[in-house]
Amino acid sequence: MKAFPEPNADPNAPHTLASKNLAKLVWAMVRPYKKWLLIIFLAMVVETCMSLATPWPLKIIIDNVIGHHKLPGWLAWMDAVFPRENRIQFAAVAAITVIFLAAMGSVASYIDNYFTESVAQYVSNDLRRRIYHHLQRLSLTYYDTHQTGKLLSTLTSDVSTIQDFASSTLMNIVVDCLTIIGMLGIMFILNPGFTMVAIVVTPFLLFFVARFKKAMKKATHEVRLDQSNMLAVLQQGLESIRAVNAFGRQQLEEDRLKKVSLETVGAALKARKVKSALSPIITVTIAFCTALVIWKGTDLALKGAMTIGSLTVFLWYMNKFFSPVQDLAKMTSNLAQATVALERIQAILDTEIIITERPDAIAPEKFSGSIYFDQVSFAYNPESPVLKNISLEILAGQRIGICGPTGCGKSTIVSLIARFYDPTGGRVLIDGKDIADFTIDGLRGQIGYVLQDTALFYGSVRENIAYGRPEATDEEIVEAAKLANAHEFVSRMPHGYDTLVGERGYTLSGGQRQRLGIARAVVRNSPILILDEPTAALDQEAEKIVMEALENLMEGRTVITIAHRLSTISDADKLFVMREGCIIEEGTHDELIEKDGMYAKLYTVQANSQHPIHKIIS
Ligand SMILES: Nc1ncnc2c1ncn2[C@@H]1O[C@H](COP(=O)(O)OP(=O)(O)OP(=O)(O)O)[C@@H](O)[C@H]1O
Ligand SMILES: [Mg+2]
Repeated sequence: MKAFPEPNADPNAPHTLASKNLAKLVWAMVRPYKKWLLIIFLAMVVETCMSLATPWPLKIIIDNVIGHHKLPGWLAWMDAVFPRENRIQFAAVAAITVIFLAAMGSVASYIDNYFTESVAQYVSNDLRRRIYHHLQRLSLTYYDTHQTGKLLSTLTSDVSTIQDFASSTLMNIVVDCLTIIGMLGIMFILNPGFTMVAIVVTPFLLFFVARFKKAMKKATHEVRLDQSNMLAVLQQGLESIRAVNAFGRQQLEEDRLKKVSLETVGAALKARKVKSALSPIITVTIAFCTALVIWKGTDLALKGAMTIGSLTVFLWYMNKFFSPVQDLAKMTSNLAQATVALERIQAILDTEIIITERPDAIAPEKFSGSIYFDQVSFAYNPESPVLKNISLEILAGQRIGICGPTGCGKSTIVSLIARFYDPTGGRVLIDGKDIADFTIDGLRGQIGYVLQDTALFYGSVRENIAYGRPEATDEEIVEAAKLANAHEFVSRMPHGYDTLVGERGYTLSGGQRQRLGIARAVVRNSPILILDEPTAALDQEAEKIVMEALENLMEGRTVITIAHRLSTISDADKLFVMREGCIIEEGTHDELIEKDGMYAKLYTVQANSQHPIHKIIS
């Protein structure tokens, strides 16, 4: 089997794929499995032929062995092999043929089943990876407005709906269609006029089925919407279980679930109501047709216009003929579900909020680390600008401090450097080049981050530190941990560097987590380092130690540190003071103190308020 093309091979693949056309998406999904599809199709043809041939031995027995009709032209040679007195041997051959037909049909069915399931599994594997690949590349803006639970719901439920559809329904539809065509052909040869009776009802059925599909699709849409809402509520409630406990809001969360859960029930029942109406209507219609065939057919047989064997084949076919028709009708609801699932998947794949790479983007050389903001504006929502026309210059190797009241845009400003978001106006330059000209991986690969809140992944401490640079050696990891002042507490953990830390590092304290976050940035060894309140979770003693550790790390790099505690950044080469999305002051600590502006005020307040605490502690 040809493996699915690596998603990394062509990062743009998902959006060229996400055309407006569902059929195109389907084709793109199954195209890699063309060969398998061919095998499946051949197996289906064999299966159908065997199934169509099943009543024929019986017909021959009835008409030509027991009865006295002549063998059909293509079997006339049998008369020579089995003369009249050897008819019983002829019957034995017919009996063996029954077994042969069943065996052939079964082998074909086995092949068809296995390969269909394989295609379905691989297609859904591809789909999951394609969606996840796309999600990984979407701009963070997308996640500001979409609930993770709903995305999870698409990644799991919608994909598995498609898988089920592809593995069972789709195959049945093809087999059914082949069967219907084959039967109609044979019935037509047996008795054209009579066949018309059987199929006269088909257009009505088709019309009904088409109407039904529309209603079913609408109902399914609602069901899936409610289901994904439910998952979002569950995901959020469980994810913030600490806050829920802390505020004793279990009842509120349960009520939330109750509401969406009941909505799901309502929508599902509504969908079922539509679906349930289909079966009785079809069954009754079919009973009418069968009744007509029995009545009219017996009449024909009595008049001698039709042999009893032909009537048997006819009745057998009638029976079989309506079962695929019935299946097809029932499958419209599966088809509706699959269509809805595809549409939901396509909605994600169609999302173009991507930090785009220019076609001629280049991987940058190793940065020396100068950063320039050229009249940069930014807004998460167009109504409320967060950064207003900011220009600032940072020289290579400088240590920069950014401070300002909470919510003034400090984290936002640094998130533009690694292109988590793109500015709405102006440019950001590194080493004199617009960062939009760089490949995203190339750019981000040279920027290290210690975020306000370090997210740890489920895995060992070692893996968590190596997340900064997967190829880091064990020595480098330990070295980084030592620098980040984390080595000591890690060594004390039950399995040292192999200790597993929880889903979000909950087995660690906030300060310990932060120190692992610093180790992660250390190991990355990047020319630009961004520290977003790296010591916010530490006490002053620990902060001092970590800051000393960071000192070593800062050697020869451009370091931007955001801090509320001004003592952390007071020895920076340059400080930027922000307020409401603007830079209101810049300079060294001494210059700013001399200027006696906002920085000086804040610094004095903090310095005074810190002394008493220090005294109390010591
Ligand atoms: N993802 C987002 N979507 C919409 N608005 C946001 C988003 N992130 C931040 N904001 C808004 O942008 C403004 C600046 O946020 P930012 O996180 O940059 O502040 P900050 O200076 O880092 O604050 P703090 O000191 O508390 O970390 C805030 O008003 C905030 O409400
Ligand atoms: Mg912040």
